[in-house]
Amino acid sequence: MWVSCWRGMEGLRGVLCLCSLLGISLLFGTVAAATNPADTAALKAFHNSIGNDPLSKLANWKGDDPCGNNWNGVLCGGNGVQYVEELHVLGFDLEGSLAPELGDLTNVTILDLMWNSISGSIPSTLGKLQNLQLLLLNGNKLTGQLPMELGRLTNMNRLQIDENQISGPIPPTFGNLSSVKHLHMNNNSLNGSIPPDLGRLPVLKHLLVDNNKLSGILPSELANISTLQIIQVDNNQFDPLPIPPAYANCSSLLKLSMRNCNLYGSVLDFSSLVNLEYLDLSSNHLYGMIPNGSIPVNLTTMILSNNVLTGPIPASFGNLPNLELLDFHNNNLSDIDPGVSAAIHNSSELRVYGNPKICDTPAPQDSKFCSPQNSNIEKGTNLTSSFALCKPDICQAGQGLLPTLAAQGNCQCAPVIRIDCRLKSPGFVSFDKYLQDFQSYMSKGLNLSVGQVTVESYNWGAGPRLHFVLAVFPSTTQTHLSFNYQEVKAIFLQFASWEIPDSPVYGPRELLVFITPNGIDLFPSGNAGRSRAAFARIIIGSIAGTAILVGALMFFTLRRRASPSPSRKHLLSSTHNKELKIEGIRSFSLQEMEAATDNFSDKKLLGKGGFGTVYEGMLDIGEVAIKRAKDKDISEEGLTEFYTEIQLLSRVHHKNLVKLIGYCMDDGEQLLVYEYMAGGTLRDRLSSSERPLDLKTRLSIARGSAHGILYLHNAADPPIIHRDIKAANILLDEKNEAKVSDFGVSRLAPVPDLDGLLPDHVSTVVKGTPGYLDPEYFLTRQLTDKSDVYSFGVVLLEIFSGQHPIFNGKNLVREARMAYKKGDTISLLDPNIKNYASKETDQLLIVALSCCNDQPETRPSMAEVLRSLENIWHQYCGFNRHSNESSVVDIDSNYTEEQRAKIYASLTDTTTSTFSTESTTSSTSNRDSTSFTQKRNFGRSLSSR
Ligand SMILES: *[C@@H]1O[C@H](CO)[C@@H](O)[C@H](O)[C@H]1NC(C)=O
Ligand SMILES: *[C@@H]1O[C@H](CO)[C@@H](O)[C@H](O)[C@H]1NC(C)=O
Ligand SMILES: *[C@@H]1O[C@H](CO)[C@@H](O)[C@H](O)[C@H]1NC(C)=O
Ligand SMILES: *[C@@H]1O[C@H](CO)[C@@H](O)[C@H](O)[C@H]1NC(C)=O
Ligand SMILES: *[C@@H]1O[C@H](CO)[C@@H](O)[C@H](O)[C@H]1NC(C)=O
Repeated sequence: MWVSCWRGMEGLRGVLCLCSLLGISLLFGTVAAATNPADTAALKAFHNSIGNDPLSKLANWKGDDPCGNNWNGVLCGGNGVQYVEELHVLGFDLEGSLAPELGDLTNVTILDLMWNSISGSIPSTLGKLQNLQLLLLNGNKLTGQLPMELGRLTNMNRLQIDENQISGPIPPTFGNLSSVKHLHMNNNSLNGSIPPDLGRLPVLKHLLVDNNKLSGILPSELANISTLQIIQVDNNQFDPLPIPPAYANCSSLLKLSMRNCNLYGSVLDFSSLVNLEYLDLSSNHLYGMIPNGSIPVNLTTMILSNNVLTGPIPASFGNLPNLELLDFHNNNLSDIDPGVSAAIHNSSELRVYGNPKICDTPAPQDSKFCSPQNSNIEKGTNLTSSFALCKPDICQAGQGLLPTLAAQGNCQCAPVIRIDCRLKSPGFVSFDKYLQDFQSYMSKGLNLSVGQVTVESYNWGAGPRLHFVLAVFPSTTQTHLSFNYQEVKAIFLQFASWEIPDSPVYGPRELLVFITPNGIDLFPSGNAGRSRAAFARIIIGSIAGTAILVGALMFFTLRRRASPSPSRKHLLSSTHNKELKIEGIRSFSLQEMEAATDNFSDKKLLGKGGFGTVYEGMLDIGEVAIKRAKDKDISEEGLTEFYTEIQLLSRVHHKNLVKLIGYCMDDGEQLLVYEYMAGGTLRDRLSSSERPLDLKTRLSIARGSAHGILYLHNAADPPIIHRDIKAANILLDEKNEAKVSDFGVSRLAPVPDLDGLLPDHVSTVVKGTPGYLDPEYFLTRQLTDKSDVYSFGVVLLEIFSGQHPIFNGKNLVREARMAYKKGDTISLLDPNIKNYASKETDQLLIVALSCCNDQPETRPSMAEVLRSLENIWHQYCGFNRHSNESSVVDIDSNYTEEQRAKIYASLTDTTTSTFSTESTTSSTSNRDSTSFTQKRNFGRSLSSR
């Protein structure tokens, strides 16, 4: 299934003029010129004949102006009146038939309908499309015969009708396709003989007619085509005749593949085929000797197996620099020239089993070629696992490890375009040694730098065809590692319009699936297609605008809150820093700090984190935790930020938040003094089997931390997005009460502007911890409180399972989704939880998974999360009678009246129960007991076909 799509924002109409002026973005669309009425009628007829559009990709095909209204997949051109020039509806899963009116799209150059389920026959009216260059109908359910009228398409460059059920003969009129370079008609039911007329094609490069029911005589006229590189006719039943001798003179040939074609006679003399790389004549009835003339120097592969060849394997095979495979098995060959067996090395292979004269009593040096099991020809490989220095599942869906960095152990994820392709007729059998070259070939073709394009995996399929997944990354020279719509579209078009030049080694390529990065949809689908397209444009406009707006707000907010802004000099003059009075927060001297920590002795070390090192310290007020910043930014901005942070924290009081006691800014140090948490981090407690946490404590920790985070989001002034929620940042006191810590990377939440409007995100640099990162945040850099909700969901999964977010190379979120889908939630449950209650644990898992939904808008708010956790808690404690907790939501006494009102409002203001997990099935071991509505969410199904 194709999901990424097309909005048709091309050409003059619908031009997007994006103007940002003082933070206000204005959006103008030029008045669209009307579409040529005949084109409109043709598209409407096409739409009508499409019986089913299961992905609603054509939902915005409404009105009378396809060009002006940006119908999905329609590209237009022209001055004044607009003409349809390209139609890209590939992979839309369309059903139905092709309307004859398509023949009225007079100016169309590309008709791309690949990978749908269109049936019926190809209308003969397509023969009218004089401008047509690419007719791409492969991968459908087309039947009927090829219309002879297609032969009129003298501008046709590429005709792909492969993988359909088309029958009847290849029309002789195809000999008039004077511009055609690619005739791909394999995997149909074509019968009759290959018309000799094709020999007139002046520029044909690739003729693929394998896997049909062709018969008759192979026309020797094909050898007249001086540009012909590939003849692939495998699996047809030709007349039992020799290979036309003329083919031996077709010196442009790179590949000749005639497997299982009912051929008789001798192997053609290939000594004049100087460019030949790949010869497959296997499974025929060829007899006689293997020619002993010179062998094309670039030969990689020769497959002559399953014939009745006799005589020796000549010495000429002994010196081939690119050799990969000589497959002569199942013949009647007599011996192997010793020079040949000696030349076979690690990267090449000789197969002679099934040749009785050689293998019944093989010479010692030959016996290894007689074992059918010995083949080491590659089947495929997954290269993403080769970044041994990085955990394999470190990246979120829609991202990949930046290969150049990952190779050095710098495990940075970035948004990625994934492109599934197939080489239809490669000139080799072993891809491994071409990888580097292939990557640079693709990056060159795409006009990107070499590190941006990598092959993630590949495998060989029938044909043999090589299926591979290409990952394309944004340029690392940009500050923001992301793609924009235009870049993605450009890359898509280079594949969909075959703009990347063919290569003699790799042969023809076909596009299977194009997966856009999260948040970029080339072809939006859905019933609201049209308005969504419009919406998407508005977002493009307003992100830029909002970023400026937010930036300005942040600037003013910081200035205002930090004022009077302490100057760098002022801050650095250590002896005077006590002037920086912050209410309720103590300022310590460096001597006090050193005394408290035995000069920051390693014995006092509690841990290390993103902020720096944490020491245990003893002060007059008792035990404390002292955080010492590493990589301090002692620029004015850095110090201002630190100071702002302290001011901010000084106003944050909640029993589920670790309390800041004081700070020290002497001598360029940046130290924060916190209350000491005797119970350590939640992460450590989950990992230690010594004093395992029981379910009740876990539920209590979950709700406690949720209280803390909710306070940050809803009651703190200004609101705070934590940005680094993780189990290592949830600390436990001696009574296992949870407190959220480490506001080191926290940021102010968006603040309403002067008109009271709230920007819905803050655009910022990604910080956080792998495994906990909201995928959406990572990709868009748009920070919302839903990013914390995601990370908290991961923490809940850890509470549930005891596992780390990334464990044994697995991603906890994914594992949990899978376990949940399979209804096998027990398998993931922490075995340390002894007396579990499946009802409550299942509910906990559902809350956790809903928090981890990929799309922020489908995640619950923190208030909703807390409410559910409270419900689970009270339900559990009610059952177990262990608790004397009150049955109302416990609002902390530290809230002011106003805050309390706010929290109550957010807790009760829930119009619908929004819990949904992204799994499409919902089975838990105790499904009926869950009190949540499980909304089926077919949302972001990026792709699979
Ligand atoms: C479209 O086709 C018509 C008829 O063939 C031709 O007159 C016109 O110039 C073409 N327009 C464009 C923009 O190619
Ligand atoms: C095209 O090819 C066919 C058969 O080769 C021939 O009869 C016909 O005259 C050619 N010309 C056109 C314009 O169709
Ligand atoms: C083409 O047909 C052959 C024989 O039926 C099959 O093995 C092969 O998988 C098909 N190839 C494609 C690309 O569908
Ligand atoms: C062999 O391959 C190389 C590299 O692709 C190419 O440059 C050369 O022209 C080829 N040689 C012949 C004789 O075709
Ligand atoms: C390759 O491995 C990665 C990580 O193990 C996995 O996510 C991916 O699905 C694999 N790809 C293929 C094509 O098997």
